[in-house]
Amino acid sequence: MALVTSTEMFKKAYEGGYAIGAFNVNNMEIIQGITEAAKEEQAPLILQVSSGARKYANHTYLMKLIEAAVIETDLPICVHLDHGDTFELCKSCIDGGFTSVMIDGSHHSFEDNIALTRQVVEYAHDHGVVVEGELGRLEGVEDDVNVSAEDASYTNPEQVQEFVERTGVDSLAIAIGTSHGAYKFKPGTKPQLRFDILEEVEKRLPGFPIVLHGASSVMPEFVDMINKYGGSMPDAIGVPEDMLRRAASMAVCKINIDSDLRLAMTGTIRRYFAENPSHFDPRQYLKPARAAIKEMVRHKLIHVLGCNGKA
Ligand code: G3H
Ligand code: 13P
Ligand code: ZN
Repeated sequence: MALVTSTEMFKKAYEGGYAIGAFNVNNMEIIQGITEAAKEEQAPLILQVSSGARKYANHTYLMKLIEAAVIETDLPICVHLDHGDTFELCKSCIDGGFTSVMIDGSHHSFEDNIALTRQVVEYAHDHGVVVEGELGRLEGVEDDVNVSAEDASYTNPEQVQEFVERTGVDSLAIAIGTSHGAYKFKPGTKPQLRFDILEEVEKRLPGFPIVLHGASSVMPEFVDMINKYGGSMPDAIGVPEDMLRRAASMAVCKINIDSDLRLAMTGTIRRYFAENPSHFDPRQYLKPARAAIKEMVRHKLIHVLGCNGKA
């Protein structure tokens, strides 16, 4: 099996009423934890790399680790640029072997977003690579850019058809109330997503794959672990799993998860050091962290995404 684009994955996911997990990767243990779970559950996968991840770990290292995962798992794996913000960054990832890129022009005007996205689509399609665009803006932190609640905005369903037609994108990220990071909803309030917007988008773009960013559940077991072992994240709240399952049964074919990976890894390492204060071999604490990622991802594949057995 070689690296694949997401085209076939999304077609089957749309028809089957499930979603593909798009997990952010930054190092070997994260890649191993995710892909070991996917192999055991026979799930198709998207491994996504942000520009921050690329700066941290280097394009070639990440690419080679993902290629190793393809050999080890024999699974269909798509390697995707998360939140590309310039044509040059997208081009560099396409030239460097990625099979999918996101061009996130959501902070530009509608016309500028279309022009930038169209430019990336033309180059990507000429090279057999697929493109995710974004309309509407999520609140939260990406690559050190903090979008405040006032600057965030829901996707306007009236714009989606024109955006897809004029850009030629292969999938579309929309804003329906999720946000990046671990603090998604106000403490004491009931988390809510605008499923009415998703329904309206689905009606206007029948059969077209929609992407949900900011879709970590901020799993309480890991937040509790962090708080128990010296950390402080009392107000961390994520997207409830039943809402993600509902989105996956609708037009959402790709669900982005990063924060839950970070929390699983950090909580497990904090616990390890609390229980083994004299240890200093990184393999000793990275091993349980990798195992925690694997079990957390297995849970998502089966109980949230529904993509187990679909490889
Ligand atoms: O949407 C943002 C992702 O969680 C990636 O985060 O830019 O810090 O790597 P990062
Ligand atoms: P979370 O912060 O909810 O994991 O979202 C990740 C994401 O959308 C990456 O693009
Ligand atoms: Zn995102």
